[in-house]
Parts: sequence; C-alpha cells; structure tokens
Amino acid sequence: MRKLILTLSAISLFIQVWAQNNFSFVGAGKEIDPYHYTVVKRAEFKQAAVSSAHPLASMVGAAIMKRGGNAFDAAIATQLVLAVVYPVAGNIGGGGFLLARKPNGELIGIDYREAAPEKASRDMYLDKAGNAQMNLSQSGHLASGIPGTIAGLFATLPYAKLKIEQLIQPAIDIATIGYVLTEKEAASLNGIRDAITKFSTQPTAFVRTEKWKVGDTLVQKELAATLERIKQNGARGFYEGKTAELIIAEMQRGNGIISINDLKNYTAKLRKPINFKYRNHEIISFAPPSSGGILLAQMLKMIEKYPVSKFGFQTTKSVQLMIEAERRAYADRAEHLGDPDYWKVPVKTLTSDAYIAKRMSDYDPNKASVSSNIKAGDIKESEETTHLSVADAQGNMVSVTTTLNGPFGSKTVVGGAGFLLNNEMDDFSVKPGVANMYGAIGGEANAIQPGKRMLSSMTPTLVLKDNKPYVVIGTPGGTTIPTSVYQAIVNIIDHDMNVGDAIDKPKFHHQWFPDNVTIEQDFNPETKKELEKMGYKFVERKNGWCKIEGIRILPNKRKETAADRRGDDSVAGF
Ligand code: GLY
Repeated sequence: MRKLILTLSAISLFIQVWAQNNFSFVGAGKEIDPYHYTVVKRAEFKQAAVSSAHPLASMVGAAIMKRGGNAFDAAIATQLVLAVVYPVAGNIGGGGFLLARKPNGELIGIDYREAAPEKASRDMYLDKAGNAQMNLSQSGHLASGIPGTIAGLFATLPYAKLKIEQLIQPAIDIATIGYVLTEKEAASLNGIRDAITKFSTQPTAFVRTEKWKVGDTLVQKELAATLERIKQNGARGFYEGKTAELIIAEMQRGNGIISINDLKNYTAKLRKPINFKYRNHEIISFAPPSSGGILLAQMLKMIEKYPVSKFGFQTTKSVQLMIEAERRAYADRAEHLGDPDYWKVPVKTLTSDAYIAKRMSDYDPNKASVSSNIKAGDIKESEETTHLSVADAQGNMVSVTTTLNGPFGSKTVVGGAGFLLNNEMDDFSVKPGVANMYGAIGGEANAIQPGKRMLSSMTPTLVLKDNKPYVVIGTPGGTTIPTSVYQAIVNIIDHDMNVGDAIDKPKFHHQWFPDNVTIEQDFNPETKKELEKMGYKFVERKNGWCKIEGIRILPNKRKETAADRRGDDSVAGF
C-alpha cells in the first residue's frame, strides 16, 4: 500500500513538473519572446484564434489553447497579460463584461463591472455650491470604483479547463522579465507621466527619469508580486490579505473611500444576455449594467425593415438611416438605463417590435431630425477600454470587454502593488439631470448609490448564423462602442464584408447629444456633403476611434481573424 502511495505521489509530482515546464513558454528565445514580437493584423486559423489589443496577449491566449485550454482559458490568460503589457486599459484594477456561448448553446454573461464603494453618495462630487467637480470623478483616489476584474476571472474559471496557476504564469513572467515597448506604448507612457506622478503617492514602474522610447523594456516587479499572490491565494490574493492592505493604504494616503469591506464583499454577477434576431442572424450581447446590448438591439431593429444592402455601403441613404437609429437609441439610454439591481430597466419594452416601430414613426428619410425634439439627457464616458475576442476548436466563443475607463484609469498606481486603479465612478451621472463640464447630461437611472454599478457602453457581442457560431466581436470606445459594433455587424451582414474590412472601414457616430455626427477622417466626402444639405452637422476626428477585434467563423470552421488597423492590436492562433 505504502509503495502504491509513493508511486502515485511520484507520478503526481512528475505530472506537476511536466505541466509547469509545459507552460513555461514565455521568455527570451522561447515560443513567446516579449523582447521580439510583431503585430499581425489579419490571419485565417484552422482551429483557434484570439484578437486583442496587444500581440503578446493574443499570442499567450493562442498558446494556452494549443496546450489544451479552451476559449475561456485563453480569455483569462489574455486579460491577465493585457494587465501587464497594455496598462492604458488592460487591468486588474478595473472591471468588465464577459459574454460567451458554449458548443451546447449555453449562453454566459459575467458582469464584473466596478461598483460604488459603501461610502459613496449621490452628491459626492458636488462642491458646497452644488457644482460638479469632475476632476474628482476622473482622476485620483476618489474616482475609483471597487475593482471587479479578478472576481470576473475567477467567475470565468469554472468554464475553463486549466488551472489558474497555468493561466496566470505568462503574465507573471512578462511582468518579471519585462517586455519591449512599441512606439505607441512608449508615447502613451510619456503622455501620462505627469498625471501618474501627480495622482500616485509612491514611485511606480511607469515613471522613470528619462522618457520612454520604442525598444525600451518595461519591468513590473510589484505587479508580478501581486499576480503571484493571486496565483497562490486565488481571488482572496487580491480582495484580502496583502494586496487589499496595499489598496487600503493607498486610499488612506490619497483620501479615497474604498474600504476593506468593499473589497471583501465584491462579487461578479451572472447576467442573462440580450438576445435578438437581425436578418436571420441571432445577435447576443450584454445586458445592463451595460447599455451596449440594448442599444445594439434597438439600432439594428430600427433599420431592419429598410433595404440597407440595396442602399449601399455608407451612401447618403444608408448613413442617414443609421444615424437616425443611433440618435433615438441613445436618447433612450440616458433616460432608462442603469444598474438593474437598483433601477427598473424596461428591457423588454425597449427592444420590442412595437416600441421600435413607434420610435421610428417620425423618421424622415429626407432630413435630419433634431435631438432636442426627441428627448433630453446624455452621459459622458471615456473611450479607453479594451476588447478581446476568442474562438476555439470545440465551438466556444468568448467576447470580453474590460476597462479602467479613462486612459490609465484614475492614474493612481497602488503603492507597492504595481497596478492602476480605475476612474469608473465618472461613468455614473455625477449630477443627474444637469449638464456636466462636457455639456453632457445624466439621468436618475444612473445616479450614484453605494454598491451600485455605473452604466457602461461595453458591447461584447456574438453572432450566430443558422444557429451556428459566426462572429465574435467587440471594441473599446466609451459611448462610441455600440455604434461601432452596430456598423461592423451591418458591414458583415448587409454589405457582405469579411471581418477585417468590416472593422477597418471608416466610422460615424451620433449619440443624440451633442447633436452632430462625428466621423473619421477617411469618411466618404460625397456622403458627408449630401447629408450636410439635409441638415446634419459633422465633426471630424483626426485619430480614429474604437479598435475592434473580430473573428468570423467560416462554413469550414476556419477562423477569419482580424485586429483593428488603428492600434498595435494583433491576432494569433493556429
Ligand atoms: N468606461 C467605459 C464604459 O464602460 O463604457
């Protein structure tokens, strides 16, 4: 008996060592070399694919699937690597939404949106005269909601096949040995240097005496130690113990309000996805507290009875129709949407055929509507978020959007723990019913309350065709997220584009207020001229927005995979 036990222990030890070695694939000269990597924008993969904001994150996700993981494993590992290599938005100090479909048709929606701390209050950002102090909701310690990401990753784990130790190790390795910065990353770290210095109370890995340049190596030892604590202790390695103590100490140094109870009590929540039909395709997207799924359903259903394909890609007719749908859906967003645990969101009504028909009853194909005649209200959101799309050989589809809110979140790095905290409190209506400093107006539905989750626009989305996996898609971009996913889906379904073309095409955005259409620089000038004659006002944005990551599953099950042309976004697979 003793011999048998000894033999079994030896076998088990051998398997553990083998498994560890088999997962040590990150390092100089190894399969994933953080000192040498390239961006891949488009590729077709036979079995499994990942598209994300950073080549190293996509490569780790693909390698995890190659070693027996599924799309959930890849989504966890990819997010953890993004927290290391994409600090502008990848995070463990923020939150997000994961939407997935298993091969048996089961839909999974995991909400790990940040929540308002117990000491938060409706008027916490108003001064004595009642004026909104947006600087406090946007930067520094008071801007942070309770982080949800680590709870979300552990809520995802039951759907995965591998152990957290295996999924987190690549992120630990990259944080420990460092990775080489691209030109864009070096520029973004230089751009945020003063703000991080101002809003962090201790030295951080992101700031050094000299400026960052392309080819420099960023090592994050404190972050590696935090990830190691999560590897050893699970979610408690973040929400309790040393990491929690470091967060609380940071809060105390900077007059923040996140408490030890806030951290201990935070949970990810399961949400029933929004599910609807569009031209014989089934579209699945995220429910409140994200506005994304409802907006997407409203906009697509508003245009469904019109022959968009016959109108043509970005012609005057098709763009005008799509703008009017955007205007009406965003008016509803401000009025009706908030955290469903705190506000009754009329999901069924907002997405019903009868309501949609009524919403479009005043649509005039010959002239611009006027937003002030439609309704009032708006919510300001920042655009720095990140998305990853994953599809595996077994038929799992996983779509994750995650964020710190603004670029580098609150710009506060938790001293000794090496990660940035979010500034997600700014996604609440800081002063319901009154314009904030950007001229945006928020609604009662999204007013601040302790424990409540702030309204989001994140739109992780899946599309089925003939009840089979077809598209995995999503993007960063604040309020421009839903309109970008909407346009990409129309490009694929109505204009018959491949996924790369669909996401790379120039975009337009209308969000009810301000009453103008934002366009990318390469938007069709003829269409713009015609629409101006009809009363539309345009604002051109030099830098594009929304870096969409998409996978389309072809009839032969190959994965047509694309990463947006607008950043360092990159695909990987096999
Ligand atoms: N912070 C961006 C969003 O949640 O939509």
